[in-house]
Amino acid sequence: MDRPFAYWEELFPSRNVLPPRAQSTTDAPHLSLDGEWAFRYSPDGDAPVDFLGDALDGHSGVADWTTLAVPAHWQLNGFGAPIYTNRVYPFPVDPPYVPQENPTGDYRRTFTVPTDWDVERVLLRFDGIDSLGTIWLNGTEVGVVAGSRLRSEFDVTALLRRDQENVLAVRVHQWSSGSYLEDQDMWWLSGIFRSVTLLGRPVGAIEDHFVHADYDAAMGEGTLSVDAVVAGGASARVRVPELGIDVAAGEVARVAVEPWSAERPRLYSGELVSSGETIALRIGFRRVEVVDSELRVNGAPILLRGTNRHDFDPDTGRVISEARMRADIVMMKQFNLNAVRTSHYPPSARFLELCDELGLWVMDECDLETHGFFPVDWFHKLPGNPAEDPRWEGALVDRMQRLVERDKNSPSVIMWSLGNECGTGQNLGAMARWAKLRDPSRLLHYERDWSCQYVDVYSRMYSTHRELDLIGQRQEAPFPDADLDAKRRNMPFLLCEYVHSMGNGPGGLAEYQELFERYPRLAGGFTWEWFDHGLRSHTADGEEYFAYGGDFGEERHDGNFIADGIVFPDGTPSPALHELKKVLQPVSFSFAGGRVSVRNGYDHRDLSHLRFTWELHADGDHVDGGDLAVDDLAAGATVVLDVPAPARGAGEQVLTVRAVLAADTDWAPAGHEVAWGQSVTIPAASAPVAAGTAPHTEDDQIVLGAARFDRRTGGLRSLAGIDVDAPMFDTWRAVIDNDRDFSWEPREARWRQIGLDHPRHTVRAVESADDALTVRGRLGFVGSDLGYATTLRWTASEDAVSLAIEAEPLGDWDVPLPRFGIRMALPERFADVQWYGPGPGEAYSDSRQAARLGRWQRTVDELQTPYLMPQENGNRIDARWLSLSDGERTLRIDAHPHVDFTVRRWRSEDLDAAQHPFDLRPTDRVWLNLDAGQSGLGSGSCGPGVLPAQRLLPATFRYAVTFRF
Ligand code: GAL
Repeated sequence: MDRPFAYWEELFPSRNVLPPRAQSTTDAPHLSLDGEWAFRYSPDGDAPVDFLGDALDGHSGVADWTTLAVPAHWQLNGFGAPIYTNRVYPFPVDPPYVPQENPTGDYRRTFTVPTDWDVERVLLRFDGIDSLGTIWLNGTEVGVVAGSRLRSEFDVTALLRRDQENVLAVRVHQWSSGSYLEDQDMWWLSGIFRSVTLLGRPVGAIEDHFVHADYDAAMGEGTLSVDAVVAGGASARVRVPELGIDVAAGEVARVAVEPWSAERPRLYSGELVSSGETIALRIGFRRVEVVDSELRVNGAPILLRGTNRHDFDPDTGRVISEARMRADIVMMKQFNLNAVRTSHYPPSARFLELCDELGLWVMDECDLETHGFFPVDWFHKLPGNPAEDPRWEGALVDRMQRLVERDKNSPSVIMWSLGNECGTGQNLGAMARWAKLRDPSRLLHYERDWSCQYVDVYSRMYSTHRELDLIGQRQEAPFPDADLDAKRRNMPFLLCEYVHSMGNGPGGLAEYQELFERYPRLAGGFTWEWFDHGLRSHTADGEEYFAYGGDFGEERHDGNFIADGIVFPDGTPSPALHELKKVLQPVSFSFAGGRVSVRNGYDHRDLSHLRFTWELHADGDHVDGGDLAVDDLAAGATVVLDVPAPARGAGEQVLTVRAVLAADTDWAPAGHEVAWGQSVTIPAASAPVAAGTAPHTEDDQIVLGAARFDRRTGGLRSLAGIDVDAPMFDTWRAVIDNDRDFSWEPREARWRQIGLDHPRHTVRAVESADDALTVRGRLGFVGSDLGYATTLRWTASEDAVSLAIEAEPLGDWDVPLPRFGIRMALPERFADVQWYGPGPGEAYSDSRQAARLGRWQRTVDELQTPYLMPQENGNRIDARWLSLSDGERTLRIDAHPHVDFTVRRWRSEDLDAAQHPFDLRPTDRVWLNLDAGQSGLGSGSCGPGVLPAQRLLPATFRYAVTFRF
């Protein structure tokens, strides 16, 4: 017979929780109960409930108890261990049962109510307990909290001792029925992880308030009314001195206002005053609507340049400091993002206040995901599927209510999202109906129900460019139900997730943005995702690294799928974020006929906050520059300007135009670059190829100018006395996550089947002529008949040696190549690298927008990008020349015309084999790849692969390099 449910396995286990209400900043007294609490951890959950009374001793023994901070996750403080799974539940799918060995944390602390509190009632508030907590005060049960990332309040007035110490005890269970509803792709981490507060409620306190602040763009007028529920039915007043508003709550005021937008987050300070309490109001007037299939705010269409953000900190998990929240938002603003989806649960309420203040459009998502039912094929099952089975309706609607009620006064929130990846079902309909009734001012979003019957916007994730193009034109495949199809076809469209940023990637961002900007129906999207969720860890030797799935000994896990963000765990922007910044820039430049056109791509604002400059460089040297007068340009408008006639220096002439902040803002100082554009006005003349010297033989060597070769193999041995490992043909790269077997466009298996990772080069002829040494050979792969016929032709002058490379494919190739080029090695001391070409960051054929032409310098170590799972990285694209120096001697390499290069202290094979950065150990060589190119990156780890134009097809390759010393 089935064992009876435990109380944490009831489908709707919350008990005694007060109705949810708005987040507020109030003058009513409150006491933070954060800090050190007494703590006992029981891995199997079998500890007795013996910790509720005044003293701990006399029960199970004080020895079991230690302390733990609130807020914190116990797994990150030495109790149990984190688990990472993407969508599978880390336990048998048997709802509502959860594992009997249910790790449990018992918490206890004492407090006294300040004597000066003049209050009628006292509430206890929990901002987040993962996953379920039972609360006792002075030995009596207060209630049960469920819904990990949702706030719960209890009335504890009757249980409180006003004149002596109070004992607050909480038992937290790691697993509960709610775990089935909280299967977001993230670490499973437990405990009281958000704040605990005691709230004094004075006589006449304001129980709840709802600010309605609409904006009529045609009239330039705001409409304000604030609903207030006051204890005892008393009244309240609304005052906004700056607008001359002083009205009763519930009354409507109409005034001329500046609207709120993510671009200009204008907030008006006011207050809501009852006889017992004053609540600070920060009012943003705005109207969100769908008109003509467009997502509009304040009358104008908006384009979401968004990202998905989880609460994450590499040391504390989902415990986030205010500094960290602010830093996230500031960085988003600095990198031209204007929107955030709170995947897949409401963040700390403070985060939204900061979005109101700094300006981001927010999609606020409910704490709901049941993705683990998908692999067991439950999404379309009744009973069972929580989205469909009526037994779960109460829990789901409760979650939605707690989301909306808490966050309803944030102007930044323009959309509510029902949750993520729960399949479809009537309970989602119930959530939507409730939300629409309660708050008709915002739009509703939910991705997984493609019928769109409950929502206001059509949303998908990871659509291909092709699908997006069709949707932009309303030519998408029809939904089977004609009415729903018609409704959906008239909705704005957004990608709630796209460009999956796992490891090195994504590629193809610019092509998405081009489509978003082309079709009015497309409202933009949210990249996946902000952070790599690597947890800071240390090897036995004390070397720091960021752990991913499996690093904590989990028996079932999803590896480094947790590392798919555009910000490294330590807060460093990844190359993808730099790429995103360029692609999303709200001002764009195009060049033609000596003129530059400037387009204002903001949704609402003119360009008066920006200063424009131009600069001319010749071969990377600054030759001229100045200011560019761009008159105030309305949103969406374009102006064409003459650029002051460029001065002429020698070499490649490059014009750069930049837009920087004219004055300090809350998120960046004056001078911060918002946008830039570049144009090559005169291309480089190609560098001369070395010629004129004849090879001769000395013992077992062939000498050609400053180069010495092995007489038998024709392999280079030294260049101007620098000992080198001869250039070898190389088509392999350490596979990136987008190449791997789980990719939507896997390439790795075929590459390995061909044997690209096991190249063999045979020399067929070493030919000395009057003007050149030519080495002919065949590049083959172990076990394969595919190959390349190769020719290396060496020539020299007195001070230079040139190498012309030619390679022709042999056999029927059916797959793009990872790369094509040569690899050589130099002594390890050649570690200082300079180059002229796109930079300074890494770039690949489908991710190169952020790289600007210039002269750059980096050490070999700085050229590496530390992806959490080591893989190909650090490519510099289209270099005109590069040099490697040991401080005394410099080897310069001119490309004819351009080369991609990587320089590392290890070989691609080492990079491929490494699981963590600490596996990579420097060799005594510097390994240099000089490539014709690499395949693009794509975002196949969860999305489309590399676009056709950026696949490196096995064609004939011809290019050359010249070495100078
Ligand atoms: C989506 C999901 C995200 C994340 C992503 C892959 O399907 O909504 O939470 O798992 O895939 O990283």
